[in-house]
Amino acid sequence: MSVGSPSVARSLQLYRRALELIPGGTQLISRRPSRYAYGACPIYAESAAGARIRDVDGNSWLDWVSAVGPAILGYGNRAVDEAVQQQIGKGAVFTINHPAEVELAEQLVATIPCAEQVRYCKGGGEACAIAVRIARGATGRDRVLFCGYHGWHDWYLAANLEDDTRLDTHLFSGIEPIGVPRALAGTAIPFPYADLPALEALLARHEGEVAAVIMEPMRSEFPPAGYLEGVQAATRRAGAVLIFDEVSTGYRPALGGAQELLGVTPDLAVFAKSMSNGYAMGAVVGRRSVMESAGPMFVSSTYWSDAIGLVASLATLAELRSTEGVARLQATGRLLQQQLNAALNEVGLPGQCTGPCWHPTLQFTALSDQDRRLAATLFIQEMARAGILTLTGFYMNCAHSAEDVGQTASAARGAFEKIRAGLEGGSLQAFLQVEVVEEPFRRMVR
Ligand SMILES: Cc1ncc(COP(=O)(O)O)c(C=O)c1O
Repeated sequence: MSVGSPSVARSLQLYRRALELIPGGTQLISRRPSRYAYGACPIYAESAAGARIRDVDGNSWLDWVSAVGPAILGYGNRAVDEAVQQQIGKGAVFTINHPAEVELAEQLVATIPCAEQVRYCKGGGEACAIAVRIARGATGRDRVLFCGYHGWHDWYLAANLEDDTRLDTHLFSGIEPIGVPRALAGTAIPFPYADLPALEALLARHEGEVAAVIMEPMRSEFPPAGYLEGVQAATRRAGAVLIFDEVSTGYRPALGGAQELLGVTPDLAVFAKSMSNGYAMGAVVGRRSVMESAGPMFVSSTYWSDAIGLVASLATLAELRSTEGVARLQATGRLLQQQLNAALNEVGLPGQCTGPCWHPTLQFTALSDQDRRLAATLFIQEMARAGILTLTGFYMNCAHSAEDVGQTASAARGAFEKIRAGLEGGSLQAFLQVEVVEEPFRRMVR
């Protein structure tokens, strides 16, 4: 269904064809149009620069999703793209290795607190799978305790083999472990965030069996005081490897990741997404004593050391350093939070823009679960009508400006007024011209 302005007709046409040619329609669940306002938001991009995307219908969108994370410097950053273009002129991949492999390792070791050694790959889920393999190899144990989302691989989806609701509270719900070997049942066990006794109880129940505790150190809220220190101590006592998944936090909290900001150093950490401003790259970093176990393991792939990802990663780090990019994107995030909170107050809509300033999150409080989803969809729809592509969470990048924040806050005020009117009139649905935003994985499996 189209809401008319701006028209996304070509996007919709392409997507209908994609559904015939590509199982599931897209490669990344977070790029499914059902996550946005279907019919109001663009589905296919033609180009992007700075904080803006141009879609296949010729519309320009102010984008707050930053390529679902990678575009930390903004799209088409000159320094990174020039480094990549120069490298393309010299070659992307060779029979032998490229020196940037060692140079980047030097940089990561100098930047990330836990990093003494480094392995590379091409994505976040892959980096998690490698880290888990290393932890299992290092400890000779099989079980993994996890909290949060860690990609698509068998080791992780195995959590839902015994009970397919186990992953429901870990970012994505409704994941059926179709195609995951049943023999893996019981090898991946979830624990709730910010509940140290629950983790300690699991470690006690599986004493001597746990290879790794893997978690995002934080996502949309800061951890309670002492929690991560407690996790670290409990994991050490159990003889397991503590892995921080920094795929989504990345360099946004600090160049050394959330571990630098929060002052808790894991044994291993994984980075991807924001480390290379849009060119495929991932890394597993960690303490030498654990990482060394990877030496004799079969962990090997042709494109993990392609020179493009390596030079893009080097240029991204250098650019973030020389432009104080982390401080700048955090300042813009604080401004966005202030202006969205002011708009909510002015409109009198119960809600808050909270969370860390690099990933502000809009919450419509005091609503039923159903109304919250309707309000979120209405927000996304109304922002799209104003040419702004966003979810209720905002991925800050260095190209977002104070003017972008102003434009967004003013469009948000209009969206909040519609939501308030819908609530007062007893029907949010009346203002919706699109399907209600799906929980990301529900549509896939139901
Ligand atoms: C915390 C976390 N881990 C792993 C992944 C998977 O990364 P990728 O999509 O690059 O495989 C994501 C992706 O959103 C993530 O947020």
